[in-house]
Amino acid sequence: MRLLVCGGAGFIGSNFVRQRLAEHGDEVTVLDKLTYAGRRENLEGLEVRLVAGGIEDAAAVADAIEGCDAIVNFAAETHVDRSITEPDAFVTTHALGTYVLLEAARERSLRYVQVSTDEVYGSIEDGSFTEQSPLNPSSPYSATKAGADLLVASYRHTFGLEALICRGSNNYGPYQYPEKLIPLMILNALHGDKLPVYGDGMQVRNWIFVEDFARGIGTVLERGEPGEVYNVGGPDEAPNLDVVKGIIRYTGADESLIEYVTDRPGHDRRYSLGSEKVRGLGWEARTRFAEGLERTVSWYRDNRPWWEPIRSGDYRAYYERQYGRALG
Ligand code: NAD
Ligand code: TYD
Repeated sequence: MRLLVCGGAGFIGSNFVRQRLAEHGDEVTVLDKLTYAGRRENLEGLEVRLVAGGIEDAAAVADAIEGCDAIVNFAAETHVDRSITEPDAFVTTHALGTYVLLEAARERSLRYVQVSTDEVYGSIEDGSFTEQSPLNPSSPYSATKAGADLLVASYRHTFGLEALICRGSNNYGPYQYPEKLIPLMILNALHGDKLPVYGDGMQVRNWIFVEDFARGIGTVLERGEPGEVYNVGGPDEAPNLDVVKGIIRYTGADESLIEYVTDRPGHDRRYSLGSEKVRGLGWEARTRFAEGLERTVSWYRDNRPWWEPIRSGDYRAYYERQYGRALG
């Protein structure tokens, strides 16, 4: 396929591109604004055309879309904590950006896959969300992602666009920016920095290894029914404290590094996705959490040149603002 991958220089997008090139021989153009989370080095060694620009910029989209027959949209602001302190870019990218991309897809009758999140359903005490569950987002991140999903659905309903939505659970794996729980804790543990656990640490997330999610998106792209939503959830759930203890075990750090800090405002207690529908397309998660976590720790241990420039740059100021303490 000839794919336009928006947000392809980020964590999941770059893993998706790597997988599509290696396993499907696709031709790929990446359109990416190269924010703090979008990194050219994530695409190093991959044969792609990279267009630097925002999805909200119609001229950049028109340039990037040339010769493509499908769009997969990963482009987003993705960190809940940043959506609480600086929501602007979340509204621009998710609302305006998605609109501009949808218009471009409509003009050219392209297939369109929107990459979305379980967070649009909100928090769930027991059981799992299905694709029929109502949208009940809690943060500016999930609310703007939910808005984007509704706009995508409207383009299917009103204009007959070949649009699909793929909602994933919490991803982890190589190339994830260290503002998210797992890479942040791995790098802090390797450096002997404190491990900041929000609240009581008993919030539960449904973890999916990034290669499994990327394959789920590919499955929906190739075999999904236009107009449908597909949940792609991981095989295991874990409270944050167990995740942190697993990282301590695999890095050989000391448990005394754990520090309980002020909880995130409006913190969702638990996410859980049922993935029966995408299994019906032949998809299955391959990596259990314990194995994926150990592989992820090894990747960060072995790829210092990837994270060193991040951890010694602007990230330090972000960390100090967010956690009220400097990194060691
Ligand atoms: P990320 O933050 O690592 O990457 C986002 C990418 O989008 C970056 O390359 C960034 O430069 C780019 N970008 C941001 N604004 C843009 C804009 N206006 N125009 C063009 N590019 C822009 O995020 P990620 O974790 O790889 O998430 C990718 C997608 O998957 C997002 O849509 C996210 O909502 C969704 N998702 C993420 C997770 C998760 O656990 N990380 C889970 C489910 C769904
Ligand atoms: P995060 O990786 O930000 O993903 P999301 O909020 O989208 O699920 O956080 C995962 C969980 O880890 C969430 O319950 C918040 C918690 N958390 C901490 O306890 N400490 C941290 O420093 C971070 C970044 C997250």
